[in-house]
Amino acid sequence: MVKIAPSVLSADFSILREQVSLVETAGADWLHLDVMDGHFVPNITFGPPVIKALRPHTKLPFDTHLMIEDPDRFIEDFRSAGSDSITVHFEVCRHLHRTVQRIKDLGGKAGVCINPATPVAALRNILPDVDLVLIMSVNPGFGGQKFIPGSVEKLRSVADEMKQRNPDLYLEVDGGIDDDTAASVVAAGANVLVAGSYIFGGRDIKSAVQRLRSKAQQALS
Ligand code: DX5
Ligand code: ZN
Repeated sequence: MVKIAPSVLSADFSILREQVSLVETAGADWLHLDVMDGHFVPNITFGPPVIKALRPHTKLPFDTHLMIEDPDRFIEDFRSAGSDSITVHFEVCRHLHRTVQRIKDLGGKAGVCINPATPVAALRNILPDVDLVLIMSVNPGFGGQKFIPGSVEKLRSVADEMKQRNPDLYLEVDGGIDDDTAASVVAAGANVLVAGSYIFGGRDIKSAVQRLRSKAQQALS
């Protein structure tokens, strides 16, 4: 089963709680939370207080994507705010193995993300230790960007490698996922689809979640 993880980045923040309820009712599997610091990426979003405020209002697992410098400083805060998985960027972690262990020691699922220009070889030695790999299929920072086609090949090579080294891995893809691109990423091995503007940017959140799911299922059958 492919998981659908709506990204609240494109939600209406003035009614965030209602928007989260809508995707939950629509059958989403996880809630993707994009944390940006204005340093690692040229945009700023939200931090632990917003995650903590949302936590009592949904049962969806919180999939937290940290696009921040020096994430070690904040891992504990995000975990205690209610993040279930915490994903850090390879590009900012000097001691990635230690960071991953820290997330796991706190009882979270640990994820590692790579930017479009970072080769999948960067993941090789950490692969057995993580619960999740996130392949950015746009440059991180903004919703609504165009899918970078080379991401399909990257997914394929992680999917190959995980068969040997970590078959239970969540292989997540983030950026430009819609009913056009979903099939190719699922066929390449992605098993978690993040989608922001496709789900929250249209008129009907419920049918967007369902369309994405049916595209994903079709690609598997
Ligand atoms: C971008 C974020 C994404 C973003 C995706 O840096 O990591 O999660 O919300 O947005 P879409 O689905 O619109 O490309
Ligand atoms: Zn994201």
